Amino acid sequence: MLPSLLPIAALVALASSPSFTLAADAQPYSWKNVKIGGGGGFVPGIVFNPTEQGVAYARTDIGGAYKLNPDDSWTPLLDFANSETWNYWGVDALATDPVEPNRLYLATGMYTSDWDPYPGHIMISEDYGASFSVVDLEFKLGGNMPGRGMGERLVVDPNDNSVLYFGARSGNGLLKSTDYGATWEAVSALPSAGTYIPDASDTTGYNSDIIGISWVTVDSTSGASGSPSPRVFVGVASMGEDNIFVTENAGSTWSSVTGQNNTYIPHKGTLSPSEGVLYISYSDGAGPYDGTMGSLYKYDIANATWTDITPASGDDLYFGFGGVAVDLQVPGTIMVAALNSWYPDGQIYRSTDSGATWSPLWDWAVYPEMNKYYYYSDDLAPWLGPNYVETTPGTLQIGWMMEALVIDPFDSDHWLYGTGATIYGGHDLTAWDTTHNVSISSLADGIEEDAILGLISPPVGPSLISAVGDNTGFVHEDLDTAPVTRFTNPEWSTSVDVDYAGNVPTTIVRVGNAGDEAGKQIALSTDSGATWTPDSAADNAVQGGKVAISANATSIVWSSSGNGVLVSANSAAFAAASGLPDGTVIASDKVDDSVFYGASGADFYVSSDGGATFTAASTLGDSTAPFDIAVNPGALGDLWVSTDKGLYHSTDGGATFTAVESVTQAWAVSLGASPTEGDYPAVYVAATLDGVTGYYRSDDEGANWVQIDDAAHGFGSPGSNVLTGDPRVYGRVYIGTNGRGIFYGDIA
Ligand SMILES: *[C@@H]1O[C@H](CO)[C@@H](O)[C@H](O)[C@H]1NC(C)=O
Ligand SMILES: *[C@@H]1O[C@H](CO)[C@@H](O)[C@H](O)[C@H]1NC(C)=O
Ligand SMILES: *[C@@H]1O[C@H](CO)[C@@H](O)[C@H](O)[C@H]1NC(C)=O
Ligand SMILES: *[C@@H]1O[C@H](CO)[C@@H](O)[C@H](O)[C@H]1NC(C)=O
Repeated sequence: MLPSLLPIAALVALASSPSFTLAADAQPYSWKNVKIGGGGGFVPGIVFNPTEQGVAYARTDIGGAYKLNPDDSWTPLLDFANSETWNYWGVDALATDPVEPNRLYLATGMYTSDWDPYPGHIMISEDYGASFSVVDLEFKLGGNMPGRGMGERLVVDPNDNSVLYFGARSGNGLLKSTDYGATWEAVSALPSAGTYIPDASDTTGYNSDIIGISWVTVDSTSGASGSPSPRVFVGVASMGEDNIFVTENAGSTWSSVTGQNNTYIPHKGTLSPSEGVLYISYSDGAGPYDGTMGSLYKYDIANATWTDITPASGDDLYFGFGGVAVDLQVPGTIMVAALNSWYPDGQIYRSTDSGATWSPLWDWAVYPEMNKYYYYSDDLAPWLGPNYVETTPGTLQIGWMMEALVIDPFDSDHWLYGTGATIYGGHDLTAWDTTHNVSISSLADGIEEDAILGLISPPVGPSLISAVGDNTGFVHEDLDTAPVTRFTNPEWSTSVDVDYAGNVPTTIVRVGNAGDEAGKQIALSTDSGATWTPDSAADNAVQGGKVAISANATSIVWSSSGNGVLVSANSAAFAAASGLPDGTVIASDKVDDSVFYGASGADFYVSSDGGATFTAASTLGDSTAPFDIAVNPGALGDLWVSTDKGLYHSTDGGATFTAVESVTQAWAVSLGASPTEGDYPAVYVAATLDGVTGYYRSDDEGANWVQIDDAAHGFGSPGSNVLTGDPRVYGRVYIGTNGRGIFYGDIA
């Protein structure tokens, strides 16, 4: 049965570049990433331009797109995304133009659910990604949704580069442009828009949407330069019904490709033009985390012949397949990645005879010993794992979520692949066929994709300590050098918050949300985060939320996720703090060991007994959602509170507040070094000030502000960001983003 045809009409006209407006006076800042250096998150797509040597791009699911540099490093392309354009950082598909390599197209948008209020976009660059114009689609895209590693769903016809195809999600089907992406029309004759839904019962909308078109591949050999290629293949995310279609007339009519095996979902359809062959990887899920079975097929276009060339079988086949690469210099040399081989490690196979025979990246010696046909180096991001050749089975050195696998079209030795955490690759790939031993290096330098959940800049020791999603967090000894290690013991996947004790600032607390089985979700360090001890005062079931430690490190208040606000004094077991609603925003005083602060709704609370009891002290105008509390370590009772309705300042310990008049909404707020020693600290805030949302600094207690973000640095969604001023360097502020790592800014 064919699903009904597509509801999409023609789309909108070309919009201009995103605009940038200033409210307060601007002060030029110099912004750089704090180097973590290993990517830090999923890299679902890597695409080489087939025409211009060295042109390649990577796309990420929450941190935008990047362009490859000749020295293997990467340059971010979407750092301008701001409070209104943060969904540009979810890049669902990417196409580089084979005819005019300066042209680059991105399909962006983060979620098709109501987590993302914005439509999807086709972003068009004519200068290799240096600038973009933006076409808004009439529907949403899901750059951080299931199936994001399939593709590419967006392609340029190599025979007529004014023609583009884009395969949408959500049942919106295939779109075609004949004017370089400026306008789009539905290709309504395509028989299926895909029917696979990962979990129809998911009420969040994240897993319950149709994955849609999984890839579009133009058969360049079907036509000649100057007119559109007649033959185009489309894979759709469906199982158990036809999922590969072909047109012979550039999209007017379509048919199922005969002889296809529709048992699994086609993830990639990679053309080997000189062989006239399409290589198709399949998995029994949409990815990127799943897949317990799959296959690899070769489709000979000329005689419509399918061959099963799956490189593993029997007990060795317990995963689906993701990335497929062809060596355009050496027809018949192909590679395929296991999408997720969780044990003992990821797997990649290589064939030099079009898939007739294969060799793996590792195989079993005498179990559990493995023969590793590679040398592993993570010199550029040592925290990714111990830089060893031998590893314990199960530590996943090779990677997981391996959907992006490419060989440089100009250099058979140069290859790259994306994982759930980074980009790996090397420059000696053909050694696979001679010595069967290649180097695999972390090559994500410049890609900073971490989601930062907490930041502190204590007055002594390292200038920055982070709590990080998926990679737990780091002590940033040197802002420009990748950390050697992440936090260990405990090494939760995610640390959600971190705080230091004002009078003993080498004492740090952090909390995580890794689930009961990970043990205590709170840990203490007395050496500025170098070593940690799980806090035995906590119940394993308590996790998440925000944490604050008292000035002398005597007591800890934990506004947990789901277990209310708890307090532990002198290492006694955590118990409910009295007087505070669940989810209260908390902070410790940095001078008086007995004082904590809380904000919930419009109410501001103070505790003067080490967090045991809180009492409502005052109100924060008509606020309904406080965001952050910043406490001045140099003046007792001086503090700032940001809320959905403004920015409030108290100089009497929260008894009374003054609202900053020009601010109508504020997110992270922090204090940093003052312009002159002894003066009031610099105040930093993410806020809507005089109607303009941005990042601001005041050197006079909030009377005057300068805007410090700029047209090139938007930091994504302010509501997801954390921020901390440096107490030792005037003007320096750190902004932790949700997907673009940490930036530090200095007055230019
Ligand atoms: C289709 O693929 C499945 C899974 O790989 C396999 O078990 C089945 O035999 C294939 N069917 C045909 C007709 O080849
Ligand atoms: C199809 O063509 C390929 C080469 O183009 C050839 O190797 C293969 O044997 C052919 N298959 C059939 C069934 O004719
Ligand atoms: C591959 O090379 C590395 C580095 O020289 C070596 O440690 C490793 O044992 C080699 N792998 C095999 C299977 O010989
Ligand atoms: C906390 O530390 C400060 C500074 O070291 C000290 O003066 C004060 O007495 C301490 N307070 C308590 C309650 O221990």
